Amino acid sequence: MQAISPIGVFDSGYGGLTVFKSIVQQLPQYDYLYLGDNARSPYGPRSFDTVYEYTLQCVQWFFAQGCPLVILACNTASAKALRTIQQHDLPKMPDSGNRVLGVIRPTTEIIGQFSQTGKVGILGTKGTVTSNSYPIEIEKFWPQLQVYQQACPMWVPLVENNEHNGDGADFFVQEYLQQLLAQDAEIDTLLLACTHYPLLHKKIQQYAPAGTRIVAQGDIVANSLVDYLQRHPQMEQRISKHALRHFYTTDDTRSFDEQASVFYGTAVQSQHLNLV
Ligand code: DGL
Repeated sequence: MQAISPIGVFDSGYGGLTVFKSIVQQLPQYDYLYLGDNARSPYGPRSFDTVYEYTLQCVQWFFAQGCPLVILACNTASAKALRTIQQHDLPKMPDSGNRVLGVIRPTTEIIGQFSQTGKVGILGTKGTVTSNSYPIEIEKFWPQLQVYQQACPMWVPLVENNEHNGDGADFFVQEYLQQLLAQDAEIDTLLLACTHYPLLHKKIQQYAPAGTRIVAQGDIVANSLVDYLQRHPQMEQRISKHALRHFYTTDDTRSFDEQASVFYGTAVQSQHLNLV
């Protein structure tokens, strides 16, 4: 690979590609490196320590490839690993000036704009929901907002196994939406707080009450990155600009390439990375 300093985009698997798609649409000029840790996904049910350890290992790999900036396009990793990496690990890496950003902060900054009733439902993995990151962060920006959460442990496996259009998806979409709305029927905004869930968007819309606002994160994270790079010209100048995209997976490249296009919209050709 030629010497480049790309933006790193990370997810436990394919989900981050839904965010990556929005990022490259808005910022096509930069070089990018995408890594899906498919061999160890899903991260959702794993412990804090395990998600942190896996995420840090992947972040270190991005840095070793020359990425000055890494986006954790994964809510579970953002909820369970980002703060520790930012506060504990980055300061121990002298003079690099490298940065890691997540998807929770940009989302919580604007989520209150979408609701009329002031009641928002967060749909995420078990890890994201039990971390309480969303209620804690939303409180800082939108103290009046009432926040309800629902873990949807079957949704990532359905999406990863390409079953998001099947009947099993209908069952589990209804199941978790009912559980969420049983907490408060006036919830009018649903945040897809897992980067896999945009693939279930149609079914969620089908079973949510009419008029419910369904918010996905791709454009939110991309807009926030545009803004970040405008505010940090030193970082912006460090990122190489040949419009290159390289894809890596820690699992089988053929399966990755077959599945990835469903999330990314166009065909990809990945390379294998052995981290395990
Ligand atoms: N896509 C990841 C997220 O946004 C989670 C998938 C997983 O459980 O690994 O939370």
